[in-house]
Amino acid sequence: MAYVDGEDAAHLLSRNYPAGMPLQQVIPFRTQRRQQVSAIPNMGRLLRGMMVRTSRVLLGRSLQSPLEASMDLSEPAPKSNGPVPSADDGGLRAALRAMWASVAPSWCELAEHVDTREAVVTQAMLDSAGLRRGHRVLELACGPGGVGMAAAAVVGPDGEVVLSDVVPEMTAIAADRAKSAGLTNVTTREVDLERIDYPDSAFDAVLCREGLMLVLDTASAAREARRILRLGGRAVFTVWGPRDRNPWLGLLLDAVIAETGLPVPPPGIPGPFSLEAPGALAELLAGAGFRGAEVREISTPMKVSTLDEWWSMVPSLAGPLARVLRSLPAETSAAIRARADAALADFSSLDGYELPGVCLLGVGGR
Ligand SMILES: C[S@@+](CC[C@H](N)C(=O)[O-])C[C@H]1O[C@@H](n2cnc3c(N)ncnc32)[C@H](O)[C@@H]1O
Repeated sequence: MAYVDGEDAAHLLSRNYPAGMPLQQVIPFRTQRRQQVSAIPNMGRLLRGMMVRTSRVLLGRSLQSPLEASMDLSEPAPKSNGPVPSADDGGLRAALRAMWASVAPSWCELAEHVDTREAVVTQAMLDSAGLRRGHRVLELACGPGGVGMAAAAVVGPDGEVVLSDVVPEMTAIAADRAKSAGLTNVTTREVDLERIDYPDSAFDAVLCREGLMLVLDTASAAREARRILRLGGRAVFTVWGPRDRNPWLGLLLDAVIAETGLPVPPPGIPGPFSLEAPGALAELLAGAGFRGAEVREISTPMKVSTLDEWWSMVPSLAGPLARVLRSLPAETSAAIRARADAALADFSSLDGYELPGVCLLGVGGR
């Protein structure tokens, strides 16, 4: 074991890794007071703003070389694709964008599956938005764009839908899919839902499926969505409900925590369940000034034939977690899978597995 003075290690790391350090090098770190470095797995990067404040850092045996030798000094900082981050976010927004860009290929591959599973949610969103022919609609955090593409059929050729995401890799996928579907009333654009660069009252409706809970400043995002609505327009958001009622994903997080001892998501990082608390979404919408804000639950079970099928999809889509999982040693990954499989076995059905899931649909008007 090698011991490194904590402060020196932090300086060393932040000098060589202004925007973070590859996870495979971070994971072997253990501290004498774990809670002080509870921010270790930060989408595969240890961010300077969340850097260790420990007095001592213990370097685990699994590192094959001393600390400095183990650093890849050529590793570049994540490239910024979107708007300039806030001065005080320590590069966190850039890292979040880089993380979402890294899972874009999986979202592309599984787009049809996601849309099929979420068809009920999508229809409920379109109904709640009160869409009409000729409406102008903005989809935020669109990923592969399934919701906006469905809206395009409703608003018709006189209407218009903008599929937007902060990550250009996602909007590229959405553009390809819209083109393949022959949609002529759809365009794509890079938009950060925390700071939407459209003028006031630009849209009749705003749609956002499983995106709002993933930003650092949800209050700003909700206010922005309201600001760009015309008077009488509506915004519809869905977010994942309570983690314990979403075992299709919650059990994966539980298994990672159990096997690594690390918090998932790390403190301060918005995760899939960051708006799970009772009343959180309703309060957010009301606080942003939406009129008649309402929230209701929609059941979204995930049906799979085998747990292999589940494993082939969920870890690769699971945003912040996907990168962490890819970086773990094979034996840790196998242990996580075994643990999750054992827990998921409770949900076996006649033709495979039906893993419960629930999302919250929130709607508000301007
Ligand atoms: C869980 S995926 C959902 C994708 C899509 N809405 C769907 O339901 O298929 C979350 C999406 O949010 C996007 N995202 C994350 N932070 C964002 C931000 N600040 N502004 C806009 N999009 C963001 C990600 O790039 C990703 O495409």
